[in-house]
Amino acid sequence: MTTQPLLGKVALVAGGAKNLGGLISRSLADAGAAVLVHYNSPASREAAEATVSAIQQSGGKALALQADLTGVQEIRRLFDTAIHQFGRVDIAINTAGKVLKKPITDTTEAEFDELFALNAKAAYFFVQEAGRRLERDGKIISIATSLLAAFTGHYSAYAASKAPLEHLVRAAAKELASRNISVNNVAPGPLDTPFFHGQESPESVAYLSAASMNGQLGDIRDIAPIVRFLATEGWWINGQTLFANGAFATR
Ligand SMILES: NC(=O)c1ccc[n+]([C@@H]2O[C@H](COP(=O)([O-])OP(=O)(O)OC[C@H]3O[C@@H](n4cnc5c(N)ncnc54)[C@H](OP(=O)(O)O)[C@@H]3O)[C@@H](O)[C@H]2O)c1
Repeated sequence: MTTQPLLGKVALVAGGAKNLGGLISRSLADAGAAVLVHYNSPASREAAEATVSAIQQSGGKALALQADLTGVQEIRRLFDTAIHQFGRVDIAINTAGKVLKKPITDTTEAEFDELFALNAKAAYFFVQEAGRRLERDGKIISIATSLLAAFTGHYSAYAASKAPLEHLVRAAAKELASRNISVNNVAPGPLDTPFFHGQESPESVAYLSAASMNGQLGDIRDIAPIVRFLATEGWWINGQTLFANGAFATR
């Protein structure tokens, strides 16, 4: 089996500069893909440049691009840029997400709107644009959350705003099947990244760690290979939400 099954393919990774998205960018580049590395905040620029330069130093092709994906035009610009720079897009991964841990009774309208603008609306239009622009045999993968299978409080707006992804993959998988494009979600449990720690206390981190099979939080290195598999040999998996969480939650 070739070690570079994605040679000649192009991947676009939204949120591809750092943490889970950064590792996905590098792992798809290792598999041979040219990668458009998207980032949003000015603070992520350095991480995006480091990811691009690590890929280039290993002999791969990559380019960083800033965009706030809550604007649908910006999502289109992302795909336009990938096609302009690399000639095509075969794999579109969306790792962009916003989180909030708060009781329902305290959540503001602005907080609700902000979460839904990225986790639901941008996620929908990302899949739409990928469906329009991907080559035959393409792969679309969005990062959801294992909270969709958990019975827990305080993440209502976050989990609710990721929930539409579950139906979106079913519809998109059917609609894009004639071009052999697969569409899936990967739904991790708690991951040891600043995204998670920003919402938690030492007590809740201990509680959530104890809920997994090894007593630890999830690691991005456990999730990136699943995304790579879906983008390569795992093409027959289609329209699914894959829960990957070390036995944290199931259904
Ligand atoms: N960490 C966890 O425990 C966990 C568990 C399950 C699922 N997830 C999901 O995994 C994904 C990656 O999370 P992570 O832990 O690796 O943290 P992360 O690096 O903070 O990922 C969030 C990404 O969303 C991007 N983003 C935020 N606002 C955006 C906007 N308006 N437009 C475009 N992109 C925007 C961020 O970019 P900037 O920083 O540049 O703004 C960042 O790249 C997220 O979708 C998250 O919901 C995480």
